[in-house]
Amino acid sequence: MEKKQELYAGKAKSVFATDNEDFVILSFRDDTSAFDGERIEQLSRKGEVNNKFNAFIMEYLAKAGIPTHFEKLLNGTESLVKNMNMIPVECVVRNVASGSLVRRLGVEDGMELSPPIFEFFLKNDALHDPMVNEFHIETFGWASADSVIKMKELTFKVNAELKKLFADAGLILVDYKLEFGLFKGDVILGDEFSPDGCRLWDAETREKLDKDRFRQGLGGVIEAYEEVARRIGVPL
Ligand code: C5P
Repeated sequence: MEKKQELYAGKAKSVFATDNEDFVILSFRDDTSAFDGERIEQLSRKGEVNNKFNAFIMEYLAKAGIPTHFEKLLNGTESLVKNMNMIPVECVVRNVASGSLVRRLGVEDGMELSPPIFEFFLKNDALHDPMVNEFHIETFGWASADSVIKMKELTFKVNAELKKLFADAGLILVDYKLEFGLFKGDVILGDEFSPDGCRLWDAETREKLDKDRFRQGLGGVIEAYEEVARRIGVPL
């Protein structure tokens, strides 16, 4: 498939057209952003690690019956994916309290959440991704009521699969963010799953092995991503 013009450049990935309108190319860059894009740095190897990490997770989820946009790895930093209409909301599931939940509600960082908490956020950097609920999504037409149900169902299915995958590798899946889109009428998982969009702690030491290392200036960011990849068996 031929790579055509750039369609969109996000904070960490760019999207390119192909000669087939059903497919686009996701290009993972080394750019690493935090605080709604206020801080951006290049971290060497990040594009390649996240591209391969994401491919591994998307294929794992597809085998578990979760529809995703992922088609195949094209090279170190690029993947071919289905060309979806993205739904502009982020779906977050939290198994353990951390991050914005702790800041918002004053609960203890590290508290186990049973049952897990689901939250929707509007994708809008200028508004700092405000939290929204089903009513906002339907009334403002960001997604249909059916799509909302499907996004929640798929996000929890992902939780069951990935909690176990990471637990078996001695890791706690603290929380994560997913994005969905519509492809030929179906809601399917899009964007990426990598340590940029989730929190992963070592089960024994509770060491952070995700983007919080970047947000909090802890260093060793890519080394931590590679450690997680090695533990779950991502071929890097
Ligand atoms: O910041 P907060 O605690 O709400 O984030 C919850 C989870 O969603 C974290 O794993 C974070 O990395 C992810 N997230 C993301 N992109 C955003 C907001 C949150 O990947 N824009």
